[in-house]
Amino acid sequence: MSISNPPHNSEEVTNTLKETAGRRNLKKDASPKKADNPSERIGTPILEVKDLCHRYPHLEANALDKINLKVYGGERVAVLGANGAGKSTLFKHLNGILRPLSGEVLIKGEKITKKNVRMCRETVGIVFQDPDDQVLAPSVEEDVAFGPINMGLPREEVETRVKEALKMVGLTGLEERAPHHLSGGQKKLVAIAGILAMRPEVIVLDEPTAGLDPLTSSRVLEVIMKMNRELGITLLISTHNVDVVPYFAERILVLHHGKLEADGSPNEIFNDPELLRKAHLRLPRVAEVFEMLQQEGFDVKIQITAEAARDEILRLISLGQKTTGIE
Ligand SMILES: Nc1ncnc2c1ncn2[C@@H]1O[C@H](COP(=O)(O)OP(=O)(O)OP(=O)(O)O)[C@@H](O)[C@H]1O
Ligand SMILES: [Mg+2]
Repeated sequence: MSISNPPHNSEEVTNTLKETAGRRNLKKDASPKKADNPSERIGTPILEVKDLCHRYPHLEANALDKINLKVYGGERVAVLGANGAGKSTLFKHLNGILRPLSGEVLIKGEKITKKNVRMCRETVGIVFQDPDDQVLAPSVEEDVAFGPINMGLPREEVETRVKEALKMVGLTGLEERAPHHLSGGQKKLVAIAGILAMRPEVIVLDEPTAGLDPLTSSRVLEVIMKMNRELGITLLISTHNVDVVPYFAERILVLHHGKLEADGSPNEIFNDPELLRKAHLRLPRVAEVFEMLQQEGFDVKIQITAEAARDEILRLISLGQKTTGIE
């Protein structure tokens, strides 16, 4: 489905993403689980976090506690965690907005320092959770142009990028509008367009679909997937919407109380009820149906996408399979 013809309900959101996401089976490993795909996870990681700790002033506990993490070029990573788990704090370390209490963050093998922070921000673009922290210019057009202008790009190139980015998020026609007169969702799209216009190698999106309607949400996820597929842009996305995670993420990180509790494929993470319960997360709705079937004695595996669910149900029907005690 094209961007100009976006889906119209949340079911179609997942259908669209289903079509675009490439599924991979990653090996299970010891906790914290490591996604393992040797064809892509070799060489220097595009992002590396080493023993990262963060503490906000006047707080006793660390908001991040010894986080270790490697992200390779082209990966699509979802970061899950309850409110206050540390997702936004982690993200703000990924291009030097926050400074570590201890530990370090490396971009393409280079530690972020005061000297290279500007370059780091061109490589790693962050879309903040709250667009009011990001969208500050008097007009939409000026806001989206801010990053490319700061990168020193020629005027025509800036104009092309702004036009392209606004088209991508479906905001063409709103160029002259004042961002503070836009809706929350529209402001979020302006923030996303501003990052897209910089064409970073990594895009980190903090709750990109929160507050967006299903159609807009699907458009945003589709745009993001397209950036990954066609331009190889690495994605890190935090979200509370676990239902869409299996459609765009090939890897999930679970944060809980500032610690990295797990790092694995969607199938691994969503087949670990104890982990999910501990991290105050839930299964995707489609998986809950399989959990219920299991509890009723059916011999089914938990499936996390509509497509896999259909296949599993068809398998069950074809076997006419019911375990003892079920009439
Ligand atoms: N500017 C700040 N000053 C002090 N404490 C902060 C600040 N920002 C976050 N915290 C605290 O750090 C912890 C992690 O917060 P963070 O915003 O990273 O969580 P989160 O996982 O992004 O949560 P949410 O899902 O609600 O966005 C929380 O306990 C929070 O109260
Ligand atoms: Mg947050």
